[in-house]
Amino acid sequence: MAGAEGWSSTQLRQYSFPLETIPRLSCTDPEADRLISEEKPVVLTDTHLIDSALKWDLGYLRANLGGGLCSVYESDNHKFMYFDEKKAKDRKDYTPCTKRMEMPFEEFVKQLESSAETEGKRVYLQQTLNDTVGKNIVVDFLQFNWDWINKQQQKQNWGHLTSNLLLIGMAGNVTPVHYDEQQNFFAQVKGFKRCILFAPEQIECLYPYPVHHPCDRQSQVDFDNPDYNRFPKFRYASGLEAVVGPGDVLYIPMYWWHHIESLLEGGYTTSVNFWYKAGPTPRNIVYPLKPVQKMAIMRNLEKMLAEALGDYREVGPLINTMIQGRYTLMDMTEVNGNKVLYTD
Ligand code: FUM
Ligand code: FE
Repeated sequence: MAGAEGWSSTQLRQYSFPLETIPRLSCTDPEADRLISEEKPVVLTDTHLIDSALKWDLGYLRANLGGGLCSVYESDNHKFMYFDEKKAKDRKDYTPCTKRMEMPFEEFVKQLESSAETEGKRVYLQQTLNDTVGKNIVVDFLQFNWDWINKQQQKQNWGHLTSNLLLIGMAGNVTPVHYDEQQNFFAQVKGFKRCILFAPEQIECLYPYPVHHPCDRQSQVDFDNPDYNRFPKFRYASGLEAVVGPGDVLYIPMYWWHHIESLLEGGYTTSVNFWYKAGPTPRNIVYPLKPVQKMAIMRNLEKMLAEALGDYREVGPLINTMIQGRYTLMDMTEVNGNKVLYTD
């Protein structure tokens, strides 16, 4: 990918899979609307969605964010894999790789500055914008381009806005590849982030943790050191990428895999997520189902089996019994001309 203004390719981490570029378009381009309605990623360069937040540097936020505590994750390395705290509590066999702390914003800034000097330890603030924020932030928030985003929500028939997450990370921080169950307009405020996306059907190459695992929705594949013995189809993964800078808005469609890295040696980064519930399920089911619909089926099956069996640990063995030597011996690469499995 060509280096645009403000960043260079030496600031990107190196990975094993091929990448194409996500289109960068004006929000007035009909092609942008077409991509969003087809649930394909696109970077919009001129939405002016968060123009009023472009001044949100650490000093401004320290003065105006208010007295509430912020969620800050600490990691011993550059990766911040999400995990479900409730699920993690019940599992003796799982040790989270990050630690969540609650602290005033001022304390976060101190840690950000001291971690930047200490090799190893890193921090990443991930705090929902809520009613504890100060007056000036409320004013900035009200000046977001709600007109544009509300129109998109209506046009796409999405559900309601569930939350706005403020993310402030150190240069080089990585959110490893995962998918979310909501539509996301990802607005970049400060610094540059590289976003690598994979289509939902690449679930076969990305091997998510089981649904009942604390790391549900996260891929088990470590991009820095892929284990091809455990995850052989990772060889077939191929992604789309964009580097987003201040004012850019990336549409991350629901169920699309995304890996997000703050560029190396570029200072801290700030982003704001706009998460929306999916629209209602269509009345007319069209076959073959879309990959996202199949993902939803798989999730529901895993949940249902765990509930019916009374113990999530029995889910894997039961599924194995159902398929090993029964469905695994069939040639399932194509059904009605549709590719359903990648071949080895
Ligand atoms: O690190 C990030 O900005 C992650 C955002 C997301 O997963 O939505
Ligand atoms: Fe995400």
